[in-house]
Parts: sequence; C-alpha cells; structure tokens
Amino acid sequence: MKTDQITSAFVEIQPSGGALKEKTTERAKIAIEPKKKILLVASEATPFVSTGGLAEVVGSLSKALARDERLDVRVMLPLYQDVKREFRKDFRYLGSLSVPLGWRNQYCGVFEYRKEGVIFYFLDNEYYFKRPGLYGYYDDGERFAFFCRAVMEVLPFLNFYPEILHCHDWQAALCTLYLKTIYCFRREYQFIRALFTVHNIEYQGKFSLDILEDLFGIPNYFRPLLEYDRCLNLMKGAIECSERFSTVSPSYAGEIKDPFYSCGLDQIVRRNEHKLCGILNGIDCTSYDPKTDKALFENYDANDLHGKAVCKEELQRMLNLPVKAETPLVAMITRLVAHKGLDLVKEVIEQALRSDMQFVILGTGDRGYEGYFTDLSRRYPGKVVSIISFNPDLSRKLYSGADLFLMPSKSEPCGLSQMIASRYGAVALVRETGGLKDSIFPVGAGGNGFTFRDFCAHDMLYVLNEALSLYRDKEAWTALMRRAMTTDFSWENSARKYKDLYFDMLK
Ligand code: GLC
Repeated sequence: MKTDQITSAFVEIQPSGGALKEKTTERAKIAIEPKKKILLVASEATPFVSTGGLAEVVGSLSKALARDERLDVRVMLPLYQDVKREFRKDFRYLGSLSVPLGWRNQYCGVFEYRKEGVIFYFLDNEYYFKRPGLYGYYDDGERFAFFCRAVMEVLPFLNFYPEILHCHDWQAALCTLYLKTIYCFRREYQFIRALFTVHNIEYQGKFSLDILEDLFGIPNYFRPLLEYDRCLNLMKGAIECSERFSTVSPSYAGEIKDPFYSCGLDQIVRRNEHKLCGILNGIDCTSYDPKTDKALFENYDANDLHGKAVCKEELQRMLNLPVKAETPLVAMITRLVAHKGLDLVKEVIEQALRSDMQFVILGTGDRGYEGYFTDLSRRYPGKVVSIISFNPDLSRKLYSGADLFLMPSKSEPCGLSQMIASRYGAVALVRETGGLKDSIFPVGAGGNGFTFRDFCAHDMLYVLNEALSLYRDKEAWTALMRRAMTTDFSWENSARKYKDLYFDMLK
C-alpha cells in the first residue's frame, strides 16, 4: 500500500476533539512518514534454504523488523536448486533482465514470495545455482559476484531503491563494493547506505588478484579497496566500503580487534573501529517453542516439565541408550570443526565418561572429528552415541531430551544453539567467548548456565563435573533449568538495536 493511501484512510476516520484526536493525529504522523526501505542481502535464509545460523538470522531478523510499521523490509537470495519445493511452487515470476559481469551479460530471472510482512526476491540463473548444495564450488567467487551484481541491477527493474542495504557475510560483500565503485555515480543509488554484518570472520571470501576485472567486473584501479595479503578479500573490502559494519554479539565485536580471533583481519577491524558495533542475535521463539514444537515426543514448558522427562525417556529409547531418568544426558549439536572446541572434548571426554552420564553428539564436518566420535561411540556402547548428520528434526528431539548442552567453542561470533538448548531446558555449558559470553551466565552468580573462561580442557572438565553434581540436587537443577528456559532470547531487543542503527545511519 502506498503511504498516501494509508494517510487518507486515517484522515477519513479522524474524529473531532479530545484525546482521540491526538491519538489519531499521532497515527497519521507515523503514516505520513514514508516507510524506510530496508534490503537484506544474504546467501541463505530460513525457511527457504539453510545450512546454519546465518539463514536463521536472516529469516527471523527480517520477520522481526517487518513487524515495525515504519519499515518496508525485503530480502534478496539466490534461487538455488535446494530452495524448498513447498515454497517454490508459490513463487511469482516477475520477469528477467540481463546482468553485466566483466565482459559478459548473464540472464537473471526474478521471483517474488511474500511471507509475514517480508518480500523475498529470488534471483535465478541456472548456470550458477542449479547445483546441489550452496557452497564449495570452484567458481564460488564468480557465482556470488553474479548474485551481488544482479542485486544491484534488479533495483531499477523493481523500482525499489533501499535506504539501507544490509549485506551479510562475504557472499553479499560485493554489493557494498559495487555500490561504492560503480553504482554510486547513478542518481538513484546515491542515497543508499550500506551496513555489512560479519557472521564469522573466519570465512572472508579470498580470491586471486587477477580476477577483479574479468570475473568481478570491477576496474583495476579500485584494487586497493579489496586487496589484502596478496589476495582479493571481499570481507576486507566490505568493511572498508560500508558506512557501518556490525557483528553478531558485543563480545565478538571486541574480540575481532585481536589477532587471536581476527583470522588476519584485526588491522582492518581496528582501522574501521569507529564504524563497528555488536548486536546479539535472537532466536525465533515461535519456531523454537517446546510448548508447541511438533518434532518433540511431548510438549512442555517451564511451568510443567513432565513432558521434558518423557522427551528424555523416548530419546534414550530411540538412541538405544539405557532408559534412566537419573543419568544426566549431555548433548552437543555442532558442525564438527576445530573452532567449536572439539579438541577440548577429545582431550577429556573419556575422563568425564567415568562419571554416570550419557553423551550424544550430532553433526557433520571434518573427517577427522567424524571418525573420532564414531569410534568413541563404538568404544562406549550404551554411553556414547555419535550421529554424523545434519538433521533439524533430530536436533529438536535432542534439545528437548538433553539435560546439559555442551558448547566449548574456541571462538563463537554468536551461536544460536546455546539459546535454543536453554529454551528447551538443556542447560548450556559454554566457554566465555563471543555470543556465548553474552547469553549464558554462570549459575554461581544467579545465571542460566555454566561457563569457563580459558580454552583449557581441564577447566571445562572441572565445570562439567560441577554441573553433573548439581544435577543430583533435583530442586536446584529444576530452578536452574527454569531460569534457562525463561531467559529472553527473542528478537525483540536485538531487532530494536538494528532499527536504531538503521535510523542512526540515515541521520
Ligand atoms: C555464524 C556464526 C555463529 C552465529 C551465526 C549467525 O554461523 O559462526 O556463531 O550464530 O553465524 O549469526
């Protein structure tokens, strides 16, 4: 609906006199102000296509933002083969355009889908995206360059010029670079402000220097903007070029200034520190609600925990573990990669297993870890279960059936699992880093979980043993579990912070 239409609707119903009049004028004022146009650009978003946290954030942040009447929120994504059929069948085809990329022109189809107040656009090119999976192809640089260039080209096609262009991670980084190198010279693009969000500084999008002109279509004289360490570094370029950049927790925003966490970019981060802020992610509390979650064996909430006991029992049965309520069930759901702190687990898990506990790990990743945990479960039948797969349904069963959720990450920009686990009453045990530090607080100080500071296996083991012993105190444990379950991890606060940031950028 156009703004002037909204205004006239209010004018018609405007009564005369008193408080009512004031209220209506106030509403009319909101309506007169044109909506701020926000465009989120990312390589994945729930519920359409997801490989992890980035998708969850783009899906749920856009939804939370769209609840604000002042904002017109849209999202652009590549139309991968993996985009779920159940949505694809309802996509509306808007037309096609030709996208220049270096010396060639590529086809781009545009599809639209509206959901909960957000308009999603899917940009189609079968050569680049009709492949299984999202990433890991030799030409990923070219694929996402096409995507970003298509985002910029599609704006006149849609006659939609956002005030805020909010790009996520390296796959969308080139949008900010195109904006500042090529498009800012066109009138309609001049007022677009760019925000770049780093979800994980480990993945920077590094490419060889010689493809700048040919594949990315950026003139060579702009090379210094992207060049870093003898490569083209898209994350570096986006940090330099955007008006602001953010990361997904306040602690991580501090950490990436330090070489230990920055994967080589600390200099760039420090140089652009004045533009940096950290906003903690939320989770979609409607989707992750043990009271209504259909994947669970039984539903429950913080006031009635009977269902949680059933979930644990059924989970133990399903996984061929001894069905014992009094044995604490410790879970991990994680990508099996080094920064998740798996080396700490490897170092002390066998000592921990001397206590009465069950350990279940679910995830995929590096072959070395997959092999290690598969072997561990063979050596500890009835105590350890390793499931090498990415399985959202099983994840939910695990969150609901577990007592303790282990997340000892070496670095963690935000982390969503510790929040989901808490909401399902699996008390989190985390290392104090990034978003883990900002969302889980030690039980000793009245908090909602267990934490340890240094990246040290024996510190983790010490706290794990403390947790296992507290588990025997039913009353204390239930109180802790309730605290975890009722911690506010919703998007409300965080979406407000993004909005403040957007409005601040528009000043
Ligand atoms: C990345 C980070 C993770 C964060 C997610 C969403 O996957 O590794 O910590 O929660 O992005 O921002």
